[in-house]
Amino acid sequence: MTRQQPHRSISRVDGPVKVTGAARYAADHDFTDLAYGHLVLSTIGAGTIRSMDVAAARRAPGTIAVFTPFDRPALHGPLPGLAPVLGENRLPLQDREVRYHGQIIGLVIARTFEQARHAATLIDVGYDARRPDASFADGIADARPVPEFPPVDILADGVRSIDEAIENSPVTAGGTYSQPPKHPNAMEPHAAVAVWQRGKLTLYSGTQGPAAHALEMATALGVDETDVHVVNPHVGGGFGGKATTWAPTMLAAAAARACKRPVKLVVTREQLYTVTGHRPAVSQKVVLGAGRDGALTAVKHEAVSSRSNSGTGLELPGRVTLKFYQSLNIHVSHRAVPLDIPTATIMRAPADEPGSFALESAMDELAYRLGMDPIDLRRRNDLSVSLENGKPFSSKHLDECYRVGAARFGWSRRKANPGAVRDGEWLVGMGMSMGVLQAASGAGPTAMRVRFHANGTASVAAATADLGTGMRTVLAAVAADGLGLPVERIRVAVGDSTLPVVPGPYSGYGAVGSGSTFNNAPAVQDAARAAQRALIRHATEEQRSPFHGMDPGEVRYEGGVLRARNLTVPFGRLLTLTRTPHEGVTEVTAPGPEQQQYAFASFAAHFCEVRVNRWTREPRVSRFTTVVDAGTIINAKTAASQITGGVIFGLGQALLEDTTFEPATGRMANANLADYLLPVNADVPAMDVHFLDHPDTKISSIGARGLGELGTIGAAAAVANAIYNATGKRIRDLPITCDKLL
Ligand code: MOS
Repeated sequence: MTRQQPHRSISRVDGPVKVTGAARYAADHDFTDLAYGHLVLSTIGAGTIRSMDVAAARRAPGTIAVFTPFDRPALHGPLPGLAPVLGENRLPLQDREVRYHGQIIGLVIARTFEQARHAATLIDVGYDARRPDASFADGIADARPVPEFPPVDILADGVRSIDEAIENSPVTAGGTYSQPPKHPNAMEPHAAVAVWQRGKLTLYSGTQGPAAHALEMATALGVDETDVHVVNPHVGGGFGGKATTWAPTMLAAAAARACKRPVKLVVTREQLYTVTGHRPAVSQKVVLGAGRDGALTAVKHEAVSSRSNSGTGLELPGRVTLKFYQSLNIHVSHRAVPLDIPTATIMRAPADEPGSFALESAMDELAYRLGMDPIDLRRRNDLSVSLENGKPFSSKHLDECYRVGAARFGWSRRKANPGAVRDGEWLVGMGMSMGVLQAASGAGPTAMRVRFHANGTASVAAATADLGTGMRTVLAAVAADGLGLPVERIRVAVGDSTLPVVPGPYSGYGAVGSGSTFNNAPAVQDAARAAQRALIRHATEEQRSPFHGMDPGEVRYEGGVLRARNLTVPFGRLLTLTRTPHEGVTEVTAPGPEQQQYAFASFAAHFCEVRVNRWTREPRVSRFTTVVDAGTIINAKTAASQITGGVIFGLGQALLEDTTFEPATGRMANANLADYLLPVNADVPAMDVHFLDHPDTKISSIGARGLGELGTIGAAAAVANAIYNATGKRIRDLPITCDKLL
């Protein structure tokens, strides 16, 4: 097993190009003859488009084309892979039905962006409107079953129902926990620049998975997969929102084909809210039963998610109950409320973000009922097997997370009585929670290319994406170790659909599910070893090589240099002598059978201190400590940024984020970054992120599990639990705003 130096910390290899502005994102690509697209969105929440008068738009200065359901761009479905699960269930502009407010009903192509935007305002639309069903609250009572995730019941011998188990429990706690819809709000909007040449499309489009995106686009456009080349070297955030192909990108490419010129389409911030996905609204009933010793006797977790009529996306938060705690009896069920609202998708720890808020709040309530320390209650119910697949966790050090976190945070200074601590006009409280991030499977199969170059550098390449997570840097670090070279001599290529990939989830689908590191890192190691073997073979076979004719077994590769007998030749020199620009391999690393025997999950303990103003009831998070058990940490700097960012989104979940629909119209009332509140620097306290160092020998030789989304899982509950400790008010309805604390 290769063991990294614990907590090596290197700066992002792409940092300089990002801070100097040299990094080009999708919309930064320009071409001669470039035309600009602007979307036209519906202004009703449900109904049918009767007519669209586009004459004035067509006559407007600069207009090149206007596409509507009456003048449709050619698109084809259904899309392959995960697209039907992650995105919309129909193609844009192919029918006249309006399924939600803000749906795409037209696209104007013009010579400039301003002209396209102006012409779009001149289109006159006639609707047959009906009142949309847009109220989640009104639909909860009639929520429908979710066939793809049937209820789970785990009952002890002789127990007939979960309700019976709860009734017979000496202590119970819980309630109904709710949270509004939310939006990923990546800094970089969805944007596409589509360039056709001789029937082949080059598409500059920010995406989490370039290969999957290319395949989906090829299907939508009715061309061969090899005819679409997706280029996305830099992506300004995804958060799930760029995991699949959304309508604007399809329309940009279809319009470019029809207009026979390159088209750039940048979705405006406001339009992003409706034409790309969001996290559904969730309401969860969680009831816990326990013995007086704190051992859980029953967990009942009933979740309801909003679901759009234009897609299948929904939240399945009850899944956390199958991986967080041991309990004698468990019931998990999910239902959905179909609504005339924009399409949902995965966003920042889907299922786990809402699920952990409800379950970890309920656990805190139970701890107070029992008069137990919340950490002791959690320890009492530690789970060693994932109930989702019945497999043992490969490596779990959650107990150490609690211990180390409590010490770093100063948990022993917590006063168990709510409202016991005051500092001037501030009520001070402490809360904690935990989080589990479970990968649906172990590593791979993952394709990775490693090459030595005549200029003395080595490269590592795969068709994945760096969303800003630091993936490039992780790949560079692992390749540097595998090849015995300094990081500065490694070049990383990601963000291109023509780079190596094995189609399918996870790695083939790109940067999703916090799977990039655990999939890619072992693949880089394997490819680095194979590349060394290929280099040695090259050295012994090439006429011009000083090693020519030797047995490959005689030649050793060490730190970028080939050695045999009295010869010592750096690989760059060798490739120069043999006049070979590069030598290397593409390897596919597949999971071994031993990896099928385990559940792989990363764990975190969160500790939060809040201060709630005694008079205004304003809640402020003043300290936050997170201790993470994620196996080997390949690069502590980018890993800590991931956890910090995740926790910050947890603060947003707890205190700020809220997409508001007007129930009567289905219109989003705050579709902009002024009214949709996200944590800003002033909302974020000093953050203490600490990593344990327990390489997971069962997931891979490198020992790294995933961690991207882990910071978010449980973080909001730590805030809510701290607010209860500060004020004695248990808020089960997010976000926790001043009015709820009055
Ligand atoms: Mo992530 S929400 O799996 O892109």
